[in-house]
Amino acid sequence: MNLNFPTGLCAERFLAEYWQQRPLLIRNALPGYTSPLDGDELAGLALEESIESRLVLERDGSRPWQAEYGPFDAARFERLPSSHWTLLIQDIEKHLPEVGELLDAFAFLPRWRLDDIMISYAADRGSVGPHVDDYDVFLVQAAGHRRWQIEETGRSEAEYIPDLDLRILPDFDPTQEWLLSPGDLLYLPPHIPHWGLAEGNGCITCSVGYQAPRLDMMALDWCDQTIQRQVPAVRYRDIPLRPQHDSAEIDAEVLSALHADLLGYLQQDPVAFARWFGCHVSEAKAHLQIEPAAVPLDREQFMAEWRMQGSIERNGWSKFLFFPATDERCYLFVSGQAFSLPLQRRSTIALLCSARQLVYSSCMHRFSDQESQELLCSLHNEGHLQFLT
Ligand code: SIN
Ligand code: CO
Repeated sequence: MNLNFPTGLCAERFLAEYWQQRPLLIRNALPGYTSPLDGDELAGLALEESIESRLVLERDGSRPWQAEYGPFDAARFERLPSSHWTLLIQDIEKHLPEVGELLDAFAFLPRWRLDDIMISYAADRGSVGPHVDDYDVFLVQAAGHRRWQIEETGRSEAEYIPDLDLRILPDFDPTQEWLLSPGDLLYLPPHIPHWGLAEGNGCITCSVGYQAPRLDMMALDWCDQTIQRQVPAVRYRDIPLRPQHDSAEIDAEVLSALHADLLGYLQQDPVAFARWFGCHVSEAKAHLQIEPAAVPLDREQFMAEWRMQGSIERNGWSKFLFFPATDERCYLFVSGQAFSLPLQRRSTIALLCSARQLVYSSCMHRFSDQESQELLCSLHNEGHLQFLT
């Protein structure tokens, strides 16, 4: 699936002129795109414990914009009003990898920036109200129609109506609006006030969300890991001291020597930094932790099983990324772990990151050496690759 940019626009220009900067409506961006799930299937997913779901009722709750959180009972969906409600399901591409085919259209963007695909199903006039998000989002219309209104200028500081379940803007003042039909797409950078109202029943919107990691969280994790790896757990030793004039005074020379020492411990070569980064951005969400395989296999058992089953699938919850490093190694990152292979294995690692399924007959030749077989076997034992039966 490719993104059908309008005449005169391409991925390169989109990145230079719109990405993280300004909104863009693309009519027929995904020609013929239809919703991968219907309303009943989405309601079915909202019954499951491991799936994050929300119902938003603008009018018929005990307060305006009431939010209810899943898992729901099937009976809940029989008591819904005829309009003004929305069901939202997060991380859908992780639970149903086939929905992830939509991501192929956004393959020109770095995968480490992707947070999730959220699907919403709305009755007539259903919405989550006027609000701002702190991420880049592609709002893909998958079924029915939705009217989007936006303020074209971003708000970095937004105020919300107090005491509501949702963060609703009290003073939304749209400057643009469009009615979207299936296949149309609206791109919004962070902080653009927007409101998408379903027009008619059965409005399904897929939000492909790219949430950037927070700088303070990255710094915290990087310092923590670097300290654990590089700073010895020993006590500070004095530099040669001179008698103090005033014992309460902190000596400037002592301080600058210590500062230089501590900064020195935090120095890191680019490969070590890349290893930390790959692990950090491939980390799984707290509620989507992967269970190891029920029956761990050794390398030979694994290869025999792969041949017998014919294929092995990537666990939709696992995040696979790679980095070809300057030390002649190629690093594979899987849900917070780094694996190092020779750089010559780059195309095989890239295949592992892109293929949703590894078919034995067509992929086996890439895994003929012991090291790559061990890698596949560990990925299986840790639950990142799974046999379907
Ligand atoms: C929706 O799909 O109803 C809401 C998506 C959004 O505004 O971010
Ligand atoms: Co939004």
